[in-house]
Amino acid sequence: MAYDAGYNAVIPYENVTPEDGKKIVQDAIFSRGPKAVKHTCFFIGGKNAEKAEEVFAVVRDSMFPPFKTSIIVDPSGAYTTAAAMVGKVEKALVSHNLGALKDKTCAILGTGAVGRIAAVLLAKLGCNVMIASLNPKRTDGEEYAESIARLLSSRYGVQVQGVFAPTGDEKLEILKKADVVLCAGTRGVRVIERELLKELKLVKVLVDINAIPPFGVEGMKLKDDMREMIPGIFGIGALTVGDLKHKLEKQILREARSNGKEVYNFNLALQLARKLLQKEISPAKLTLMLSYPPAKQGSN
Ligand SMILES: NC(=O)c1ccc[n+]([C@@H]2O[C@H](COP(=O)([O-])OP(=O)(O)OC[C@H]3O[C@@H](n4cnc5c(N)ncnc54)[C@H](OP(=O)(O)O)[C@@H]3O)[C@@H](O)[C@H]2O)c1
Repeated sequence: MAYDAGYNAVIPYENVTPEDGKKIVQDAIFSRGPKAVKHTCFFIGGKNAEKAEEVFAVVRDSMFPPFKTSIIVDPSGAYTTAAAMVGKVEKALVSHNLGALKDKTCAILGTGAVGRIAAVLLAKLGCNVMIASLNPKRTDGEEYAESIARLLSSRYGVQVQGVFAPTGDEKLEILKKADVVLCAGTRGVRVIERELLKELKLVKVLVDINAIPPFGVEGMKLKDDMREMIPGIFGIGALTVGDLKHKLEKQILREARSNGKEVYNFNLALQLARKLLQKEISPAKLTLMLSYPPAKQGSN
């Protein structure tokens, strides 16, 4: 993606510790000098968001003016995915007259990096947030779910409820309370069966980001974009989120290359996702806008 965004060279470093981070940054910034270093960007990935944040803190603190560059933090693509998911839901609610996201109760099904960051973004927006582990293989489920809520509180300063819901009845309990449900479970694992959906009265928007069959939600299609799956329940599928995430990542990489000083984290990713969504005007809507008010007869 970096090559696609115009970078000339991508140099990967694996298993980077905070100590390595400092050396890598200093080697890069001092050898290139203040002017050229602006075209360097540090992309912090990896599978573990907490470790990525630790490396990020060292990378950021190892720079000082005039030796500054852009830094992108996006472990497992989770920051851009979570930002795309939250931005998409926010816009979908408004465009379907379903109210503001900040007033909603949101259930996040999945406690991986994507689920955690989605929980952080939603809680920061003022939503009432539950984050759930649905993994029937967990023996420490309740303790684990509570530890995730504590981690999000201590690291990001947000209050969310951690829940363990491995059975159908327990899932239903959570889903009944939610206006918005984000399925961020691991790939190829179904978490919501059709029968469970039929029991729901309150859920307005249901998002599934698992693109590997079987999808997280039975009956969801990859390109669903607020399709009414059953009365009152609107689905957003994995490719709809994935398409926005892809555009977002590309935009961030491009901006980082020309900007030379910004930190692209999940907060900035959400702002950019909102901007990209604002620009999206469907051809049908555009025709409507262009043809209104109706042209006067006889005019060109
Ligand atoms: N559409 C896109 O653009 C896009 C981009 C990036 C990622 N993704 C997708 O986003 C999803 C989440 O990714 P991630 O990296 O955050 O997390 P992940 O590591 O893929 O999945 C984590 C979650 O899956 C749960 N899990 C694992 N095995 C399970 C089982 N047998 N039954 C039920 N739950 C199980 C884990 O349970 P515990 O809570 O017990 O640990 C955890 O909550 C994945 O499906 C990934 O493919 C989509």
